[in-house]
Amino acid sequence: MTALVLGAVLLILQPQIVPSHPVSSPKVEVPSEAGQKELFRKGSLKSDFQDSPPLNGSSQRLPQTIIIGVRKGGTRALLEMLSLHPGIAAAESEVHYFDWEDHYGNGLEWYLSQMPFSFPHQLTVEKTPAYFTSSKVPERVYNMNQSIRLLLILRDPSERVLSDYTQVFYNHVQKHKPYPSIEEFLIKDGELNVEYKAINRSLYYFHMQNWLRYFPLNHIHIVDGDQLIRDPFPEIEKVERFLKLSPQINASNFYFNKTKGFYCLRDSGRDRCLHESKGRAHPQVDPKLLNKLHEYFHEPNKKFFELVGRTFDWH
Ligand code: A3P
Repeated sequence: MTALVLGAVLLILQPQIVPSHPVSSPKVEVPSEAGQKELFRKGSLKSDFQDSPPLNGSSQRLPQTIIIGVRKGGTRALLEMLSLHPGIAAAESEVHYFDWEDHYGNGLEWYLSQMPFSFPHQLTVEKTPAYFTSSKVPERVYNMNQSIRLLLILRDPSERVLSDYTQVFYNHVQKHKPYPSIEEFLIKDGELNVEYKAINRSLYYFHMQNWLRYFPLNHIHIVDGDQLIRDPFPEIEKVERFLKLSPQINASNFYFNKTKGFYCLRDSGRDRCLHESKGRAHPQVDPKLLNKLHEYFHEPNKKFFELVGRTFDWH
């Protein structure tokens, strides 16, 4: 943790340092949920699509597929990679229709107005990672469209906790606000603090049960977020198949960027990596504490594997 605090201080004082592991500058940050709501109201989180004039023959459509989460699972990478396909029209910003009461209260017409313009042969997709862990969302999505295809990207639950913490940590750094060390969240009275929200969000079994009350398993495709980091193309091919899209994304659309330490995208000769807030270094955690975290997730992971009939290479 000391390393993380030191790293943050150095980033503020000297933003040009080149870290050994990809670390983003704290200058551009993903806002907190409250911050996002504020930006949404001001209109600055609106998608580019909504400001550009629609092309002839295009119109806005409700999504035929939604990336429901999980937060910090690699949802942006998945959306960007899927958007390489000409048959995909993606909403740029997170819409938060089903999980924010004020948005949900605006009704389906409002939701539709948040969607990109698309052509009839295209699938509209939106991603809001908070949907997966919000208990009221599955029923609401079901009420809109019970045959919708859902995409869920998951990652090692312990690693996801660290990523979750890191995001909130940098939100605070950006505002020059102090933020407790990860140990202060992970430990309570000498034990693992299982009430820590980030731990709860990694209880995939618990949240998945809610979704399976409304949707059959074959309507929810699980993307292996750890594999998507290591080798994105095979994971994206599986998504193409699930969405019944013609195979149009190629291995040549991805290249490994050594500086970023992640795969980046190549499209019509244009190279681009994900935003610098994606792929940040995580805090160093005492191995004993990390082990406790791994042990804690052992049972829920097992239950999750049984629930979805598939295993993942998690701690
Ligand atoms: P970290 O920043 O903790 O490494 P989300 O978009 O859901 O917030 O997920 C962010 C995570 O996407 C990052 O977490 C990163 O590990 C992962 N990711 C997957 N593929 C990536 C890629 N090609 N470039 C950058 N980050 C990627």
